[in-house]
Amino acid sequence: MGVIASAPGKVILFGEHFVVYGEPAIVLAIDKRAYAKVEESDGKDLHIHSTNLDLAGSFKNGAFKIEQGDAKEARIKFEPVKHVVEKVLEKHGENTGLTVEINSTVPVGAGLGSSAAVAAAVTLAVAEALDVKLSKEDIFRITYEAEKTVHGTPSGVDPAIATFGGTLLFQMDTGFKPLDVRMEIPLVVGDTGVERSTKALVEKVRNTAEKYPQIVDPIRRAAREIVLRAIDALKKNDLETLGELMNMNHALLYGVGVSDESLEWLINAARKAGALGSKLTGAGGGGCMIALAKDERLEQVMEAIQRAGGRPFVARKTDEGVRIERT
Ligand code: MEV
Repeated sequence: MGVIASAPGKVILFGEHFVVYGEPAIVLAIDKRAYAKVEESDGKDLHIHSTNLDLAGSFKNGAFKIEQGDAKEARIKFEPVKHVVEKVLEKHGENTGLTVEINSTVPVGAGLGSSAAVAAAVTLAVAEALDVKLSKEDIFRITYEAEKTVHGTPSGVDPAIATFGGTLLFQMDTGFKPLDVRMEIPLVVGDTGVERSTKALVEKVRNTAEKYPQIVDPIRRAAREIVLRAIDALKKNDLETLGELMNMNHALLYGVGVSDESLEWLINAARKAGALGSKLTGAGGGGCMIALAKDERLEQVMEAIQRAGGRPFVARKTDEGVRIERT
């Protein structure tokens, strides 16, 4: 039968990239989840199968054997999974064979936190299967370490939201604080279909910041101010202000070089169709954009994104972080 756990994907409403430099960000968990099914097996192999990526392979004594799909891609995608499994096995105290089946509904490589959602779900499912007790804090830490193997110098925002869910105000030095958001935040996510690397984009911003500190420092401070005003707008249910702040946040991200043509098409199409605001979400360079729209405009915004070549869907916030689906 096996144990099944799941964890949510996310959208960053405000503050991506600048969060890597200690600025605050607002992030919310969405109703797209990654699922991991784990069973103990004979021997000492770790067998991983991703049904949504059509990849499968096994790790045995550190060596990787491909069973389905491209070997290089599988190795890269499965590395963080292997990492979290090893951490839970360390706590378990003995090595054991495991079969991990992953099925994610979070678009991959699109800025929606798919790798963190998978890592958090696998961590909890393996812990439950082996009867290892982990706190949410433990799951966050294990997932964060795995993210570092994929993303280089991540802020920790993706593992935090995959683990804890809800709406979080996240800051690297002070950690995260749940934001009590009562209002609905009607969002359309538009996937450009352009896959990209978070690591490369974070490096790009770092190079720009090092080359032009006098220009990028004020941009960072402006991003912080946007987050502070957004907290206020969220408290006051003020959708119009949130939309304006999203547009300004996008302009700052454009300024540090992380938008691209595919994102600009969708963002402009959404604004023309009556979105209150629109911006890239996550690392940029392709991936996804978000548009905030009144309920009665959601359909038009979706159609406009589709016509502009994107794959739109409505994202609803979810309070539930990583959780067991079946024991
Ligand atoms: C990625 O979802 C968000 C970035 O800010 C990187 C990070 O915070 O780790 C681009």
